[in-house]
Amino acid sequence: MKCYQVSKESGPFEMVERPIPKPNSDQILIKLLSCGICKGDTSIKNAIFPGVKYPLVLGHEIIGEIVELGSNIKNLKKNDIVGLGIPAGYMFDGGFSQYMIAKESDLVLIPKGLSYIESAPLLCAGVTTYSALKNCGAKPGDLVAVCGIGGLGHLAIQYGNKMGFNIVAISRSEDKKDLAMKLGAKYYFSIDKGDFAKEIQNLGGAKAVLLAGPSENIADKLIESIQDGGKLMLLGTNNIKMEFSINPIIFGKKSIQGWVCFDNEIKKECLEFSLKNDVKPMIKIYKFEELQKGYEDMCSGHARFRSVIKFD
Ligand SMILES: NC(=O)c1ccc[n+]([C@@H]2O[C@H](COP(=O)([O-])OP(=O)(O)OC[C@H]3O[C@@H](n4cnc5c(N)ncnc54)[C@H](OP(=O)(O)O)[C@@H]3O)[C@@H](O)[C@H]2O)c1
Ligand SMILES: [Zn+2]
Repeated sequence: MKCYQVSKESGPFEMVERPIPKPNSDQILIKLLSCGICKGDTSIKNAIFPGVKYPLVLGHEIIGEIVELGSNIKNLKKNDIVGLGIPAGYMFDGGFSQYMIAKESDLVLIPKGLSYIESAPLLCAGVTTYSALKNCGAKPGDLVAVCGIGGLGHLAIQYGNKMGFNIVAISRSEDKKDLAMKLGAKYYFSIDKGDFAKEIQNLGGAKAVLLAGPSENIADKLIESIQDGGKLMLLGTNNIKMEFSINPIIFGKKSIQGWVCFDNEIKKECLEFSLKNDVKPMIKIYKFEELQKGYEDMCSGHARFRSVIKFD
């Protein structure tokens, strides 16, 4: 089989030939159907996440078909279509590969009706934003802001809208306004034009702000956008340093929370919610051999809003 490995910190994707792995009694062999390329992959490739061991096959927005199972696997069967996210492609070899090995406990069944190609980004970008919104403290009718309209942000807008929140999209420029409104944003503010925090306060302030992109310079503005008692949720994993004033947090009783979600039950719930509410990632499809191009287009923001590898 062919796979792309990264053999050292910040090293290139190298296509290598390896034997198709054999599952042991507790493992499952998956033939890849699709794999999204997440900004988190850059953090793993460049060892910004802790504990990365090379060589490693990245890719953690995975959908594939079960082709072989160990004798102890009870709840899944051959030909089932399954998905998995992190820890694949981080703690063990992931989806930039024609085949991969997984444990039953890391897999979720992909509900019938979801596209096996289009839905790959739901396994990371989807579940992360879906679960963050469920835990952001907002109720239907509340104002919720999403800052950074990329792979995560464009799904957060859709989920938030379908959960009944009034979504404010915050982006670096006016470029994504039409798309963001189409995806369900009610308001759109660009960072390079006017004072977005003041505009959001004029609307009553956001109950929560989800930060889905880097933002070294706007931390104070994001905090100012939040209503008293509200929350800033940090989703971006760039490990940047943020500088902000403390008093608005104290006197507004605001909070800042980091967010990840590795919970398989929430993944299942997120997939069902996406199917029921027609939440779909906007994707650009690449062949397996075009991984490098897909990765570059994700990094540059050229792929609106997610690069996805479609396997033959
Ligand atoms: N917490 C988690 O569990 C989790 C899971 C997956 C990913 N992540 C992290 O979440 C962040 C977003 O991931 P993603 O896959 O959505 O990334 P993405 O597709 O590249 O989107 C990031 C967005 O951030 C905004 N941005 C602001 N400053 C930027 C800059 N200097 N360079 C590039 N983009 C900039 C852009 O939106 P605008 O043009 O609208 O400003 C961009 O579209 C990444 O840090 C990723 O590692 C976290
Ligand atoms: Zn990811």
